[in-house]
Amino acid sequence: MGVTDQDTKTFIDAIKGYSNYDFSEYSEKSLKRRIERILVENKVNLSGLILKLKKDKAFLEQTVKDITVNTTELFRDTEVWHDLRQTVISKLKDNDTIKIWHAGCSTGQEVYSLEILLNEMHLLNRCEIYASDLNEDVIDVAKKGEYKFRFNLSYLSNFDNVIKENQYNFTINKEVEYESYFTIDKKNDKIKIHDFLTEKPIYKKLDLVKRENLFNTKFDLIMCRNVLIYFNLNLQNKIIDFFHSQLNNEGFLVLGKHESLLGYPENKFSKKGKFYQKKG
Ligand SMILES: C[S@@+](CC[C@H](N)C(=O)[O-])C[C@H]1O[C@@H](n2cnc3c(N)ncnc32)[C@H](O)[C@@H]1O
Repeated sequence: MGVTDQDTKTFIDAIKGYSNYDFSEYSEKSLKRRIERILVENKVNLSGLILKLKKDKAFLEQTVKDITVNTTELFRDTEVWHDLRQTVISKLKDNDTIKIWHAGCSTGQEVYSLEILLNEMHLLNRCEIYASDLNEDVIDVAKKGEYKFRFNLSYLSNFDNVIKENQYNFTINKEVEYESYFTIDKKNDKIKIHDFLTEKPIYKKLDLVKRENLFNTKFDLIMCRNVLIYFNLNLQNKIIDFFHSQLNNEGFLVLGKHESLLGYPENKFSKKGKFYQKKG
């Protein structure tokens, strides 16, 4: 038998009771799937799981990490990066500093994609990059910037599509070596992002549910892609409100390809293509 609504509630209450994490406004569907997997992997039933959560702090922390979905890739949804260059970055390019927050950065591929794009636009040295996630394990991977090569072969075609090809004129190709940004070690099946990119971002563990900004600065661009889909509409809107308060006037909010500000007050952001700009 699958995980019931009551099981999900019991699980959420236990986590909330034994820690500072609150999953009560996560989307139930994906939460149920994760709980199901946690039960199978740990070979326990729900009461066994609750008991373990109560007794074992490290197990609770691991369970919280297991709830998160960390799928990401270099230049994920390539068309978004072309639009980002045209619509968002071209508007920020005259700022003295460009402050960017990746909220829900997972293992860092999105952070490095944007750094590469900014470097190609000769803007990287004027950028301050901040990145956060709930899951400390993915932040550790992000800081290292080391990924499996064969498993992630699509990174190369994504790179070519965004960095080398000119989608407005396909006869023009820019020659940019992969080695300008990462090393490919086929023998050891590794792709390693160069240090000048991995050393720049400030990474922090941060729970968006708490709506805190641990970076003590406001931002010109907040990237929060493929994170809000795991929350219910009420929490999504509270977090968007929080992002609004943490953006500079005319700053941009970038959501995932399948996410939008549905049901959010229209007077706070104007829509610029696929992106949202804080009204001044
Ligand atoms: C699917 S990944 C998205 C990664 C990247 N932004 C992208 O679009 O490729 C979602 C990330 O959101 C993080 N996340 C989930 N709940 C969170 C929360 N309450 N606070 C901060 N990050 C959270 C997960 O740990 C995960 O790394």
